Amino acid sequence: MGETRAGRRPPPCRQPGCGGSWPATLLAAAILSSCLPLTQAQEVIPITWTPQYPRTGQNMTLKAGGTLEKVVSCSWFRGTVTDVTKRILVYYLPPVAQGQVNGPSYTGRETVGADCSLHIRNLTLNDSGNYTMSKEGGVTAVGHVTIEVSEILNRPALTPESITMVENSTVVLQCSTSTSSRVIVSWLKDVAPVRGTAELSNQNRTLTLPGITKDDAGSYTCVVSNPVSNASSSPANLVVQYGPYDVRLNQSGTISETLGSLLALQCLADSFPLAKFQWFFNDTDQNVDKDTFSVQLKTWENGGVYKCQAYNARTNRTGSESVTVTLKSKDPPPTNGGGLSSGAIAGIVIGSLVGVALISGLIYFVYTKTSLGRTEQHISNGNIPSTPGHNQGVSETKARSGEEDIQYSTLAFSPSSPAKAVSAPPPPPPSESNTIYSEIKKKLSG
Ligand SMILES: *[C@@H]1O[C@H](CO)[C@@H](O)[C@H](O)[C@H]1NC(C)=O
Ligand SMILES: *[C@@H]1O[C@H](CO)[C@@H](O)[C@H](O)[C@H]1NC(C)=O
Ligand SMILES: *[C@@H]1O[C@H](CO)[C@@H](O)[C@H](O)[C@H]1NC(C)=O
Ligand SMILES: *[C@@H]1O[C@H](CO)[C@@H](O)[C@H](O)[C@H]1NC(C)=O
Ligand SMILES: *[C@@H]1O[C@H](CO)[C@@H](O)[C@H](O)[C@H]1NC(C)=O
Ligand SMILES: *[C@@H]1O[C@H](CO)[C@@H](O)[C@H](O)[C@H]1NC(C)=O
Ligand SMILES: *[C@@H]1O[C@H](CO)[C@@H](O)[C@H](O)[C@H]1NC(C)=O
Ligand SMILES: *[C@@H]1O[C@H](CO)[C@@H](O)[C@H](O)[C@H]1NC(C)=O
Ligand SMILES: *[C@@H]1O[C@H](CO)[C@@H](O)[C@H](O)[C@H]1NC(C)=O
Ligand SMILES: *[C@@H]1O[C@H](CO)[C@@H](O)[C@H](O)[C@H]1NC(C)=O
Repeated sequence: MGETRAGRRPPPCRQPGCGGSWPATLLAAAILSSCLPLTQAQEVIPITWTPQYPRTGQNMTLKAGGTLEKVVSCSWFRGTVTDVTKRILVYYLPPVAQGQVNGPSYTGRETVGADCSLHIRNLTLNDSGNYTMSKEGGVTAVGHVTIEVSEILNRPALTPESITMVENSTVVLQCSTSTSSRVIVSWLKDVAPVRGTAELSNQNRTLTLPGITKDDAGSYTCVVSNPVSNASSSPANLVVQYGPYDVRLNQSGTISETLGSLLALQCLADSFPLAKFQWFFNDTDQNVDKDTFSVQLKTWENGGVYKCQAYNARTNRTGSESVTVTLKSKDPPPTNGGGLSSGAIAGIVIGSLVGVALISGLIYFVYTKTSLGRTEQHISNGNIPSTPGHNQGVSETKARSGEEDIQYSTLAFSPSSPAKAVSAPPPPPPSESNTIYSEIKKKLSG
């Protein structure tokens, strides 16, 4: 059963257009009834309908509530007023013998029941709208109802089916479906709602994405629904050409390399389509177009600035990153006295050895007394041997991204680096007893 939508009405009039607009009439009626309480009250007929969500091809029944006592005839109209030119039919109740008399709005599908209910078969979308019913006799009563006839929605067509656009452009998608204003159109991107700054127009049938970014790339669908059905379009794919952004080398800042070693660099860039690379040394094009570049650092002249430049022809954008390579001699610098006597050097060497032995002994002692596994693990990770410049760079930036973490571990196990960290004893597996022990220790000392 549908809901009732009824209002107070003035007595029915028989002239076209005399009803005026509904809210105005309602207001007038309200004023009249409040100012003139002696005026005869106008009965409002509640109207219900079945099915609740009528759809095209179905039959529908509009049922008028209230009494039929002293009622001589009842009339049904299309629209909001009791206008004879909009009358579907008038029904004369027994004993009057005339029965159903059709009016100008009769379409051949309407019949009336003995209880004054209106049956409409084989509904069309045009049957949507307002209906007015009136009872004439001892008391005149009027009722109104608004009916929405829905259709089974077909799959909407989404155009264009695929789009490739450069970032910052505006993308417009059209969803074509029933023109009925009752159809609700919504949009999805990869099964989630579209971004908040998307613009909807034309009753949500047009989606505009101003200033697209790489995050807008994806698969778009429009979903149409009404009370009796829903349907989704096939997806339209949006490809966004962007970048290059975030151009970076796997070595950064200033690095110190040994004369004669191989310098291998890799360049990365966030770009679609993939960026084209160019490599420069001291601003001279090296005619290499791969993402990697390597050079044997044979002479002192190989030290300088190595630059990677990334270019995307679609966006006509360029990005670059460079690393400064300083060279150091392969052999350690000559130690010809340098102010220190051989005795002093020997003393330092012996002192250092004794120091190392003492520290090792201390570490072993503390370690066998348990509970320091975690601390040692930390020490060994901190002791990654590498060139000072690079190590500094890593420790400053290692928290920045996963990529740099990878770089970091690669470096730790690089064959060119002396494996000093390995000499530390492996940390014991973490166990509850360790934790308990240290807690007890803390309590005892505190
Ligand atoms: C609609 O009503 C007609 C008779 O008025 C009947 O023949 C038909 O089967 C009904 N259709 C539906 C879908 O109920
Ligand atoms: C229902 O109406 C449609 C047009 O709206 C028509 O094609 C169809 O034949 C009608 N069906 C019946 C059973 O009258
Ligand atoms: C609906 O009404 C319009 C004009 O009001 C008419 O052109 C159209 O043919 C009607 N459709 C049906 C299915 O009755
Ligand atoms: C039904 O009546 C209301 C109130 O007068 C009006 O706003 C609405 O447009 C009408 N609906 C149709 C389909 O005519
Ligand atoms: C348009 O979409 C917005 C947000 O999804 C929704 O609130 C609104 O009801 C829709 N309007 C129509 C006519 O579908
Ligand atoms: C869409 O229709 C299907 C069945 O056809 C139903 O299961 C689903 O709940 C409907 N979704 C919405 C949003 O109405
Ligand atoms: C940088 O990348 C190149 C090429 O993949 C690789 O050979 C080199 O070891 C990398 N350098 C570092 C420090 O990760
Ligand atoms: C490159 O520049 C560095 C200084 O920035 C210089 O030492 C080196 O000789 C230059 N190499 C060449 C081949 O120009
Ligand atoms: C898009 O806009 C951003 C921000 O204004 C700008 O940095 C970028 O260069 C633009 N991209 C293109 C291809 O114009
Ligand atoms: C690409 O950008 C350069 C300047 O960065 C400009 O001179 C050139 O005209 C642009 N080309 C196109 C096709 O837009």
